Amino acid sequence: METVVSGIRPTGNLHLGNYFGALKNFLKMQQEHHCFFFVADYHSLTTHPTPFDLHKNIKQVLVEYLACGLDPEKATIYIQSDVPETTELYLLLNMNAYMGELERCTSFKEKIKTQQNNVNAGLLTYPVLMAADVLLHRATKVPVGKDQEQHLEMMRTFANRFNRIYNVEYFPEPHAFNFGEALVKIPGLDGSTKMSKSENENSAIFLADEPAAIRKKVMRALTDEGPKTPNEKKPQAIENIFNLMSALSSKETYDHFNELYNTCQIRYGDMKKQLAEDAIKFTEPFRARISELMSDKEYLHKVVRMGAEKARESAGKTVREVREIIGFKSF
Ligand code: TRP
Repeated sequence: METVVSGIRPTGNLHLGNYFGALKNFLKMQQEHHCFFFVADYHSLTTHPTPFDLHKNIKQVLVEYLACGLDPEKATIYIQSDVPETTELYLLLNMNAYMGELERCTSFKEKIKTQQNNVNAGLLTYPVLMAADVLLHRATKVPVGKDQEQHLEMMRTFANRFNRIYNVEYFPEPHAFNFGEALVKIPGLDGSTKMSKSENENSAIFLADEPAAIRKKVMRALTDEGPKTPNEKKPQAIENIFNLMSALSSKETYDHFNELYNTCQIRYGDMKKQLAEDAIKFTEPFRARISELMSDKEYLHKVVRMGAEKARESAGKTVREVREIIGFKSF
């Protein structure tokens, strides 16, 4: 059994790509490992959200993850800012994080280009805060995508450097958590190979989308005039619609439209109608649970309190031990 930590940025609604990607992994991990999943709200302050948006987005991700089956009885689910030990470890780790290495970080270099008038110190030390998140629980596994590889490398650097400076073997090295089986990759409705909301809101189907919104988006999905010869190779946009169908519809449905494609009889309007109905059916239980949880203040309060308590127990122990190692001794 490994200790697993992952942070979830509160950046709005989850879509099917998130569900079939990170979320399904989390659901599996919580059964098998000692997991901490937290809403990374301190991290989100680098972009200066309004208090209203900040709270709304934190609640939204929390509710949606719970609606998808993240289980507070199995995993420790908490809000980062409820665990102030995070900030103490962050401060302590900052002393051993060098300007040069932080400035060389790819995500920092990108950020100073995209938010030129807000190049704050939080952006520079973002990887230190991430390291604090993970080292706080002395975790060994971090389920993140390729884009976080460099941040993971930096966590290992900070962990090893701490151990070396104080001549201890305190922090284990955290590594990326990769599942053996290939992830189901969900394409976008706009011809892109990966469902993403940052490029184009209409390319993603959100778990909280109303049926009418799903129908509208699916019917607008990119297609073409159809195949001219039997068994033609599918262009990307068409391949995407079929891939979505294979994730959301029954095998019979998929085979039916595939056969129509291969015999040049396909009518994309019909296929998209079917896909929209299947997407509605697939997301229905999530949508219902999301709206239920959204108004269940008492339950959310309980979940968040319980998570904070469990996380602080683990974090408190680490920070006490780290203070001792550093030389903050009690009189
Ligand atoms: N930076 C991560 C992201 O952009 C979120 C995150 C913050 C995180 N702290 C973490 C992920 C700790 C894993 C572990 O998605």
